[in-house]
Amino acid sequence: MNYTVMMPAAGSGQRMGAGYNKLFLELDDKPILIHTLEVFEGDPSCDGIILAIKPDERAKIQSLLERFTIKKVKALVNGGEERQGSVAACIRAHDAGGIVLVHDAARPFIRRSVIAELVEVADGHGAAIAGVRAKDTMKYAQAGVVEGTVDREKLWIIQTPQAFQYDLLRQASDQAQAEDFLGTDESMLVERLGEPVRIVESSYDNVKMTTQEDLVFGEALLKRR
Ligand code: C5P
Repeated sequence: MNYTVMMPAAGSGQRMGAGYNKLFLELDDKPILIHTLEVFEGDPSCDGIILAIKPDERAKIQSLLERFTIKKVKALVNGGEERQGSVAACIRAHDAGGIVLVHDAARPFIRRSVIAELVEVADGHGAAIAGVRAKDTMKYAQAGVVEGTVDREKLWIIQTPQAFQYDLLRQASDQAQAEDFLGTDESMLVERLGEPVRIVESSYDNVKMTTQEDLVFGEALLKRR
């Protein structure tokens, strides 16, 4: 089953503290953005990638795509102020239907086996998202005082990729925009429509490169692979 990727790459990465887009930071002499793109470049089931970027980074990204021979990027669209707007720009630029996968450019360690399962489940059921089980005890608290402990058995830490039938994602995204609803992932937008979203178990190494510690972890993961 083939799919198209909607990839937001238009963040500023303030939490990384690099002073520029963290996706240009290198792991093993290659930008994080390229590591992530290469996963899809090498997957025969991936038909193409729509990348949301910051307008002033267009030239730099184009030259990186050439230098690392990334050929599957079909369109570079201008991202939004928020991640959701960047993904929405990718969704609007896609006109072929089918299965689409939303994946953060900042997660270079996604496994092909998880992608394949997500695509299959989304094809059969509409929506599927990657997640891992919570390992730690989780509590909710107010002003630093514990109010209760959450039943960990039901808790999942959600990642990207998130896979959808295109028409469903398009409807969810358009409706969120019309109603000024801002979610923290695309699944939330689909959940609001009352549509079921299935979880596909992913791995703990599918980390989002967010802070300096993640880079250390990322270097170690690359060495192990
Ligand atoms: O900042 P964070 O790592 O949570 O962002 C997740 C992904 O969304 C990153 O790949 C980032 O480049 C992207 N993003 C975006 N547009 C924004 C904010 C974030 O494309 N306005």
